[in-house]
Amino acid sequence: MTTLSPSDIAKKACAEMAGSFVKDGMNVGLGTGSTAVFLVDYLGQRVKDGLNIRAAATSTRTAQQARACGIEVCDLNDLGRLDITIDGADEFDRDLQLIKGGGGAHLQEKIVAAASDKMVVIADVSKAVDRLGAFPLPVEALCFGRQSTLRHLQQAVADLGYADKPITLRQKDGADVITDEGNCIFDLHMGQITDATSLAAALKSIPGVVEHGLFLRLAQAVVVGRPDGSTLVYDAADSQGVAAQIFA
Ligand code: A5P
Repeated sequence: MTTLSPSDIAKKACAEMAGSFVKDGMNVGLGTGSTAVFLVDYLGQRVKDGLNIRAAATSTRTAQQARACGIEVCDLNDLGRLDITIDGADEFDRDLQLIKGGGGAHLQEKIVAAASDKMVVIADVSKAVDRLGAFPLPVEALCFGRQSTLRHLQQAVADLGYADKPITLRQKDGADVITDEGNCIFDLHMGQITDATSLAAALKSIPGVVEHGLFLRLAQAVVVGRPDGSTLVYDAADSQGVAAQIFA
């Protein structure tokens, strides 16, 4: 038996709590990332125990894991609306605004979340922030003309009053990271994002930008995992009164 790190205990706890929201007959969006891995394992076990669901995956790696676990993975086009999507996040704030895309899958993640009646985020408590932006904001862009796109990104960020914010092309092992859709990723080192809505609009208007990692007005709740294995559910109304335990 492997011993989990405190961080993995937190991830597993929130993934399994959110996974318990999934009921027989649901169409489910499956997120991507190290927290979602625990979710897929958990749902795979429930499927082996008789749960009947159909899933849309947010990346090829999640689809592979889900199929290996015995979950029926379908084309999103064949499922219509999804009942629920459960996915991780790199940061979330009090308004349930998210930064996603640390794993490079935010394009499919956003399409799947937008196709869902409900998006539930699974995140360990370290992802809670007062203001988004310490985590570099991913922007997926076409490889075609990417130097021009980069200049437009720099200009858009400067025009919004963010001075000297580095923008880096994501690389791994000396090569450009290429997404499932064959695009590249820029990471915007914003530090603090003062107005996520205006930044999102500015990024979206740049030719060559396919999708950014700001998820606004998509998530309904965050199941927060803690290193002791406990969980808290946070929603926009803070109906459980847990904000003080989550946000510094
Ligand atoms: C994948 O592209 C991301 O959006 C992930 O959902 C996000 O980075 C959270 O990943 P972890 O659960 O690994 O922190």
